[in-house]
Amino acid sequence: MKRNPIIPFALIAIVGILAVIVISFVGVNQREQIANPDEGQEEGAVQDPEAIYEASCLGCHGTDLSGGAGPALSTIGSELSLDEIKDIITNGTDGGMPAQSGTLSPEEITVISEWLSEKK
Ligand code: HEC
Repeated sequence: MKRNPIIPFALIAIVGILAVIVISFVGVNQREQIANPDEGQEEGAVQDPEAIYEASCLGCHGTDLSGGAGPALSTIGSELSLDEIKDIITNGTDGGMPAQSGTLSPEEITVISEWLSEKK
């Protein structure tokens, strides 16, 4: 039985074309995945004071704001005003609190200061 000699080439061409289509769809999906969760995470981090606290402050001020190398912050809102909290976080203190102006954005400092000023 003799086969049409064109068929193998045609099959390879079709498979190749399908592969290109599939790969480009996969690529588009990955590009969206890369673009979107990233944005979401950054916004989430900026708006979630607890995440900022865990990343930047927990080591010294303890889980649950209970203190450690730094003082407890669990009732800081009744001790300091929002502006005082913001100032301490931004500029640090001579007593060992490191300035955060280099590591946190002004938005992050505002968010975490407001969150702390509600701890009474
Ligand atoms: C390297 C350890 C360390 C880190 C990290 C740190 N702190 Fe502190 N923090 C301290 C120390 C020590 C003090 C006490 C400073 C003083 O008495 O002058 C302090 C004081 C404070 C105060 C004033 C407390 C009071 O009772 O007067 C606030 C508010 C505060 N820190 C918030 C934060 C926040 C928010 C972060 C994270 C963005 C943070 N700290 C990260 C060590 C740290």
